[in-house]
Amino acid sequence: MDRILIFDTTLRDGEQSPGATMSTREKLRMAHALDELGVDIMEAGFPVSSPDDFLAVQKIAREVTRPCVTALARAHSRDVEVAARSLEEAANPRIHVFLATSPIHLEKKLRISEEECLDRTAAAVAQARSLVDDVEFSAEDATRTPLPFLTRVVQVAVEAGATTINLPDTVGYAHPAEIHHMITTLREQVPGVDGIVLSVHCHDDLGLATANSLAGVEAGAQQVECTINGIGERAGNAGLEEVVMAIQLRHDRTGKTTGINTRRLYPTSRLLSQITGIHPQPNKAIVGKNAFAHEAGIHQDGMLKESTTYEIMDPHMVGVPESRLVLGKHSGRHALRSRYKALGHEINDDELGQAYRLFKLLADQKKDILDEDLLAILHYGAMDDVPAHYKLIDLRVECGGKWSTARLSLTEQGGPPREATARGDGPIAAALAAVDEAVDERIRLEELTIRAATPGRDAVGEVTLQALIRGIAFTGRGASTDVVDAAVRAYLHALNKAARARVLEARALQAAGDLWGV
Ligand code: KIV
Ligand code: ZN
Repeated sequence: MDRILIFDTTLRDGEQSPGATMSTREKLRMAHALDELGVDIMEAGFPVSSPDDFLAVQKIAREVTRPCVTALARAHSRDVEVAARSLEEAANPRIHVFLATSPIHLEKKLRISEEECLDRTAAAVAQARSLVDDVEFSAEDATRTPLPFLTRVVQVAVEAGATTINLPDTVGYAHPAEIHHMITTLREQVPGVDGIVLSVHCHDDLGLATANSLAGVEAGAQQVECTINGIGERAGNAGLEEVVMAIQLRHDRTGKTTGINTRRLYPTSRLLSQITGIHPQPNKAIVGKNAFAHEAGIHQDGMLKESTTYEIMDPHMVGVPESRLVLGKHSGRHALRSRYKALGHEINDDELGQAYRLFKLLADQKKDILDEDLLAILHYGAMDDVPAHYKLIDLRVECGGKWSTARLSLTEQGGPPREATARGDGPIAAALAAVDEAVDERIRLEELTIRAATPGRDAVGEVTLQALIRGIAFTGRGASTDVVDAAVRAYLHALNKAARARVLEARALQAAGDLWGV
């Protein structure tokens, strides 16, 4: 097979990254972006882990019909049953069953024998296969499993009906030659493996995830599991953008291709960063801020003469927009919509209305409006993913001395304005303390980052924060030319998500009461 299947697990393994938790609305938005990107399979979640996860998988399965949508399940009958239920409305459902196979996991974590591992594999795969036609089995910690036993597990899974066998390097320990050897051995030694898709799933603890994935492909793996920006547990997973470009750009060497629309790589990366607040490091391959920047004079000189002297791919190929002055104060809605379209975002009328309002406000404060400003408006303001339970009406801050003072007014659910005044050892601290004063919530701010979306003094500041609200972590984001205003908006965004989550949780628990026994 010349076409390598791209299995995206941003919404499941990626979401297990510290701080990458996404709301159902955010997951849905990502799922649509992954669909547009052209992934073959998307892992939507681990439904038995929580009612929220169940709901997110169910919604994605209902709305995203082109790619295969898969749900994760441990090799337990209830997990498999819940996964199947979450996928009931999927056009192309897959159940993804996993069970650890390495000695350390069997002895220390699961406390089961090899025979029991084989029995559980057979039972769970057969159960999944009785519910859907497409079943993937993952031998967790495959790379630390002795090959003779791994071969037996894979054989049992194939005989029980698995259609894809995934061999994860769960702890990112393997070297490329070992992955190559593992895939080659399984291809040679498992009877009936010819009609089965072999897959690799590599973690990046040694920075080898992409190299290991490519070694797997070279040995005959037909599916690669990866995440946008390489987010995931610990050091993360193989980055989808790296794997795809390494396969496609070096077709001369790999002889393979993928179904990915590479021009959607950068917009999808950017969307994920906006949603999670986790931005790839500047020197990250393909999607980092400096991936196409040329600083050294000799490089710049070469680039001016012939770009291929120092650039192995054209930034446009992966959808990196040029930073350009695009619109001004007098630009209309039509121009705004066209520019978003050029940046790869088809926006609906409501989003356009909101984006235009924010664009006009921004144009009053900032002369040059760049593409990045438009993206900040879109991601931080116009594509608001939660109803405004709390709404900011006014904010004033005085700072300069030892203490700063903030006065604000906000409304709760359209009620009368509530005013509050508070002090803090800086303008942001004071403003957030004023919000605490105005809302009746238990909030603990865990993390706050400020980033300039564009160069220059009048840059739009993007604030992303993590707050524990009633003990649950929520991400909030806001953007404004005034970072204090952006911080308050981000704080309220997190509070609005918490309010929304309470409503959803109550609904989900009611609807799924029988599954969770409440
Ligand atoms: O890394 C891993 O082993 C996994 C499996 C659940 C596929 O994520
Ligand atoms: Zn993993």
